[in-house]
Amino acid sequence: MGTTHANQFIKEGAKVVIADLGTTNGEKAAETLGENAIFVELDVTDESSWKSLVEKTEDTFGPINILVNNAGIVASASIKETSYEDYKKTITVNQDGIFLGMKHVHPSLKKADKGSIVNISSISGIVGNPDNSAYVASKFAVRGLTKAAAAEFGADNIRVNSVHPGIIRTAMTEQEDVQEMVQAMVEMVPLKRLAEPEEITDLVVYLASDESSYSTGTEFIADGGLTQIR
Ligand SMILES: NC(=O)c1ccc[n+]([C@@H]2O[C@H](COP(=O)([O-])OP(=O)(O)OC[C@H]3O[C@@H](n4cnc5c(N)ncnc54)[C@H](O)[C@@H]3O)[C@@H](O)[C@H]2O)c1
Repeated sequence: MGTTHANQFIKEGAKVVIADLGTTNGEKAAETLGENAIFVELDVTDESSWKSLVEKTEDTFGPINILVNNAGIVASASIKETSYEDYKKTITVNQDGIFLGMKHVHPSLKKADKGSIVNISSISGIVGNPDNSAYVASKFAVRGLTKAAAAEFGADNIRVNSVHPGIIRTAMTEQEDVQEMVQAMVEMVPLKRLAEPEEITDLVVYLASDESSYSTGTEFIADGGLTQIR
């Protein structure tokens, strides 16, 4: 989804830094977007990595005014099946990564005088699920951290909201180990289908833009009705 978001931000006239682990195709994605996009290697769990991301971004484009915290991992397992090590791994990427991102990008957003942070949670941050306990814990934390940050950063003219996608067609939902859960969930979606990444992008761009100027600390759900209808 990050690549799809980056594409649309470029079309809207933004300058974009795609940040991801070095092992992904983020660098290729940035090259296809032209001179207004760069790739910077980032491990969201590593503080020094965030510091150098902010430095490189400011050197290239100036202060940051939008942060989309999108990195995430999923593992399909109940509490009984999850080792403490795997639990901590999910929490470290999905929860600590967002904390570190907001902490280290905040000074740059403040310099820009106006900012918007969009934290990607999930419907697993809205309702519980027996099959992916660590993921649910991490995505509820994203929702909570979003509200804490909105309260803290509001005085700096920085808005913070969370996005809660349902089931989206990406590498994550194509993982072998989540197929059973994904199929079962799609059957329960009132719209009876997965969403394409672009359907989440439109929401992310809206929250990043002035069109959402009075929204902060709020959950925005795009799940085909899955969490709203029984
Ligand atoms: N696909 C869905 O159905 C769905 C639903 C709800 C929420 N989400 C959330 O949307 C976001 C994007 O998911 P996606 O479906 O595009 O998944 P994806 O697996 O295609 O992309 C996730 C990206 O995060 C990166 N990443 C993982 N660990 C990282 C780390 N330590 N540092 C930096 N980058 C790291 C990966 O390299 C990858 O590029 C995630 O936060 C995910 O939890 C996805």
